[in-house]
Amino acid sequence: MINDLWYKNAVVYCLSVESYMDANGDGVGDFEGLTRRLDYIQGLGVTCIWLMPFQPSPQRDNGYDITDYYGVDPRYGTLGDFVEFTHGCHQRGMRVIMDLVVNHSSDQHPWFQEARRDPGSRYRDWYVWSDKRPANAEDGVVFPGVQKTTWTRDTEAGLYYFHRFYEFQPDLNTENPHVQAEILKIMGYWLQLGVSGFRMDAVPFVIATKGADVKKAAPRYDMLRDLREFLQWRRGDAILLAEANVPPKLNEEFFGADGHRMHMMFNFPLNQNLFLALASADTRPLAKALEGTRDKPATAQWGVFLRNHDELDLGRLTEKQRQAVFEAFGPDKSMQLYDRGIRRRLAPMLKGDRRRYELATSLMLTLPGTPVIRYGDEIGMGDDLTLPERECARTPMQWSTEPHGGFTKHDSPPNPVISGGPYGFEHLNVAAQRRDPASLLNWTERVIRMRKEIPEIGSGDYEVVQTDAKDVLALRYDWRGNSVLFLHNLGDEPREIDIDPGAAGSHDSLLINLLAEDHSRPVDGRHHRILMEPYGYRWFRVGGLDYLLRRSEI
Ligand code: NOJ
Repeated sequence: MINDLWYKNAVVYCLSVESYMDANGDGVGDFEGLTRRLDYIQGLGVTCIWLMPFQPSPQRDNGYDITDYYGVDPRYGTLGDFVEFTHGCHQRGMRVIMDLVVNHSSDQHPWFQEARRDPGSRYRDWYVWSDKRPANAEDGVVFPGVQKTTWTRDTEAGLYYFHRFYEFQPDLNTENPHVQAEILKIMGYWLQLGVSGFRMDAVPFVIATKGADVKKAAPRYDMLRDLREFLQWRRGDAILLAEANVPPKLNEEFFGADGHRMHMMFNFPLNQNLFLALASADTRPLAKALEGTRDKPATAQWGVFLRNHDELDLGRLTEKQRQAVFEAFGPDKSMQLYDRGIRRRLAPMLKGDRRRYELATSLMLTLPGTPVIRYGDEIGMGDDLTLPERECARTPMQWSTEPHGGFTKHDSPPNPVISGGPYGFEHLNVAAQRRDPASLLNWTERVIRMRKEIPEIGSGDYEVVQTDAKDVLALRYDWRGNSVLFLHNLGDEPREIDIDPGAAGSHDSLLINLLAEDHSRPVDGRHHRILMEPYGYRWFRVGGLDYLLRRSEI
């Protein structure tokens, strides 16, 4: 049967133009630099680039504060450079999705400027105002410790305005049909310029009712259907990937019972429980999260990630669980953020332990969904905890041992590259890893290539298979007559496990290791005894490598 759902078997690479490569020498990355690096990105094997915000912005929240939805920030280049970039991606068979940040604009956006100045302006009602400071103004801040309120008084308007995030990010009144029409226009515009969809920022807040008299914000899920319909009319194969950190029971609302709302959602519950499982060498929370996020419409897909550009949000774990993750991966207060998360990059969290790093990456690539890889994680980049809040994990890409890691020719770039120490560009860079066959970069390329040959993960049914060890996760996928089995030992002790893969079908139960030569034969017709080294992982095909000859059409 035809399988057109490209996002189900994609490998997504997330990057910000600012941090990737500076071609014009001003110390800030730009589209020209990024376009020059497209062969590297293609070489990694990724099939889709997720571009973080690049529109004109005062850059007070890494571009999530936009002043012109139809432009490119001049520091990153021009619209022409953007089109060259999307064209370059298409030439290499890669798609582009971009952030759609429409919960709020920047307070410097002309819409807000006009709205605050002129009560009669058509833009007045594009934002959310109140005469008095609402009683609940301190509730629901997203950045506790940094953000004090969600309502701030604007002296020019003489009114309070609502902002779910920082005070320089006034919320758009998304219930206003004019705002809704503008959102569609923004989508249509970028689709025309070559993107294949959007990572939609802060979706639960976009669709929430907003206002001083709103006691408990109610979601208007139908807005998601309108966005979806418009998107699909304009471009049949475009997708919406939702940032919606919501409890699993709400997933169906975001996907839509018939899959008529968001195509994809990041799997935040899985992400948090994955780190809990890694911290405690106990696969049970992970298995539970897999069960909790199992149900979804057939066309819907999870985005599976380890780290992104924000803090690792542990807000949905219990206090005790969160403390366990803090203790393992971010024990110092300086590593934690907003009372709920860890702001470090993956490699330092895992103490630079290559075995654990491979284990975590292998899990990301083989848990149900589409993997979303953060730029720099393919070489194990570190963080700079002297930078504020989330900036510590957004440092420039480390390309070579040349000045500033080959990121820029600028003498003192505003965005400093990590220098010195185990994660400094002098030791850790693409050029060095490219030459070393055993490097993390070359390992990552190999596993991505293999991952793309296993569509069972993105499209199949899965089952957690019982083993006799709680530190080993065994996950089997079945799809179109074939089965694959993945084993991960989260613990630092070796484990010999006894496992019946339990795959249906007539093929013999030989397990073919897809990444190494140690295949496994059953000891008694069905059961395998497999020795897993500390932090070991296995990717097996059940049966022989003639699986493509056996794959069924439906
Ligand atoms: C989520 C983004 O990932 C984050 O970086 C940003 O600060 C907020 N949304 C506000 O746009």
